[in-house]
Amino acid sequence: MPMRWLRRALPVAVLAPLLAACSLDGVQSIMSPAASIAREQHGLFMWTWYLSIPVMVGVFGALFYVLIKFRRRRDDEMPDQSHGNPMTEVILTIVPVIIVIMVAVPSVRSIFRTQTNVVATSDDVVVHVTGYQWWWKFEYPQYGITTANEMHIPAGKRVILQLNSGDVVHAFWVPRLAGKVDLIPNQDNRLWFDTDAEITDEDNGFDVYTGQCAELCLGAHAYMRFRVVVDEQDRFDDWVADFQQPEVVATATDPLVAQGRQLVATKGCIGCHNIGNFAEGVKYGQPQYPDLTNFGLRHTVGAAILDATPENVATWVRDPQEVKPGTRMPTLWQATDPNRDQEAAAIAAYLLSLGVEDGAQAMAQASTGGN
Ligand code: CUA
Repeated sequence: MPMRWLRRALPVAVLAPLLAACSLDGVQSIMSPAASIAREQHGLFMWTWYLSIPVMVGVFGALFYVLIKFRRRRDDEMPDQSHGNPMTEVILTIVPVIIVIMVAVPSVRSIFRTQTNVVATSDDVVVHVTGYQWWWKFEYPQYGITTANEMHIPAGKRVILQLNSGDVVHAFWVPRLAGKVDLIPNQDNRLWFDTDAEITDEDNGFDVYTGQCAELCLGAHAYMRFRVVVDEQDRFDDWVADFQQPEVVATATDPLVAQGRQLVATKGCIGCHNIGNFAEGVKYGQPQYPDLTNFGLRHTVGAAILDATPENVATWVRDPQEVKPGTRMPTLWQATDPNRDQEAAAIAAYLLSLGVEDGAQAMAQASTGGN
């Protein structure tokens, strides 16, 4: 007898904590939408969910009623047999048709609201998003700037994304803002959304939303993440201006930063990566690798895997495979190279100084930031 109770209680004991772990306000939860498209999708989800509750109550209620009321009793004989009940059959046909219409009408309306209006007007911010294994390129044709893995947009403005892929199929998804839409080679997919005009985090003047690739694209798919930074308009304008005229750091006073700048050239970093701060008016690198211009303004490194602290950037540069298995970023040193840690820290210090207004402070941080 105890075994039977155990068998019944076990699923409850296992499921209860699992369900309790589901939070409605997670950083990547569709249940806490923060932009027009996400709200539309959330509303549709909730409407369908509310509709399903009476269906569930009706079906299970009828089931249990029949199970209990008509259960077999000891002296039961075979009951009267009947075939068909026109009234029941009409109800069972009409009710589902009504439910399907109640789901279909708002669904189709949402599809038209979200999938149309993708032609940019002069008020909209246009971003060309290109997915690569395993990072994101963000280009702003209106401003002539390019960055990677961290997209800035101004609060309250409509954003129109043009989505493409440089290799395989990826999918753009920021659950709290919009998505998901596939990035397909040689096909222009579009997505638009607008955020609230009010910034939630007034102290910082910006909100951060996390996103990730939602289409299995081999290798480091799970590590293909990114961030959307929603700025107050002034802050966004500053960010754009900083990218249009990146400060060239050619003669850093900090020896670690100066060494890092030299290593970026001698170790071959600029063979792949463009760094607008490296030399004025010269474009280095190749388009299929992340642009590192103003890297110091970014919050993360390695496609949003690690926070961009001096230690983490040095760890990433020192051994990218360790941080993000499968990444195309090569390891620049032999395992036994005695200069590896020091040189990685120097490259990190240089990268983190790029675009940072109070460069001296960032450099000091980098200098004291461990190996
Ligand atoms: Cu890109 Cu998964």
